[in-house]
Amino acid sequence: MSWTFLNTDFVPKEEVKISPFDRGFLFGDGVYEVIPIYDNKAFLLENHLARLERSLDMTGINRPKKWIDIPQIIEDLVKRNLFNNQSVYLQVTRGEDSQRSHIPDHGIEPTLFVTSSQLQINPYRLNPEKKGLKVKVLEDPRWKRCDIKAVTLLSNVIAMREADIEGKDGIIFCNEGKITEGASSNIFAVFNDEVVTTPESNQILSGITRNHVLCLLKAKGLKVFEKDFYLEDLYQADEVWMTSSTQEIQPVSRIDEADLKFKSPKDSLWFQILGSYFK
Ligand code: PDD
Repeated sequence: MSWTFLNTDFVPKEEVKISPFDRGFLFGDGVYEVIPIYDNKAFLLENHLARLERSLDMTGINRPKKWIDIPQIIEDLVKRNLFNNQSVYLQVTRGEDSQRSHIPDHGIEPTLFVTSSQLQINPYRLNPEKKGLKVKVLEDPRWKRCDIKAVTLLSNVIAMREADIEGKDGIIFCNEGKITEGASSNIFAVFNDEVVTTPESNQILSGITRNHVLCLLKAKGLKVFEKDFYLEDLYQADEVWMTSSTQEIQPVSRIDEADLKFKSPKDSLWFQILGSYFK
């Protein structure tokens, strides 16, 4: 049996229910986190909770009643759901209204929902020789608050669905040629001995993995720049990576119809960084 947590209690997945008057359902009025669990321990939990707190502050959604118990709730849920490695999904919506209105009811109680599923081991950890990801590039259609980890992800879903239909593994968004991020990841590129990633702004999510990878790169004394780069630059890059809490680091080998430069994993920086990911 698979367990979830809703507001105050653990509930079996088959039985958990919310009202259609929940603003998360009606307006996508909610925020979320995806937290990886390795060997039953949450990875970089404090960073995820700090970002969740920021998302709540930015949207004016109240802290859920069980706010301070969240680390314990995650720990207990992970125990109940048995897998050693899990992906915890935690969502807070503004809560259930008495009727549909853009202006929320006063005193509305937020809805806290937590669920988890098995976290697949990064396929590039199991088989580093595996061909890199094939990605599709799209003009970024999203709103101007991509720094908020909002559940309102229709643009991302449409893009990922298109990529999937075309047999691609992911999406890179760009704004008039300038790379923003993936549909559910951040983007890095390596040029000679320099590593570049998009700077933080309202156009990207400040990825927990992005920031972890930046720390690992800096600790290795590598030259790292948070600066803009363009689609045309990617075709010249030595390496292009996607990073996220569920993907860790994964290399890209093809963008639209163009193959990128090939480097064997042992000569690649992504593979080195993956090797020090948990150190
Ligand atoms: N998505 N950018 C976007 C738009 C994302 O949705 C994500 C993560 C990231 C990477 O963030 P992090 O390193 O903190 O996971 C960047 C999660 C995994 C998801 O929606 O499932």
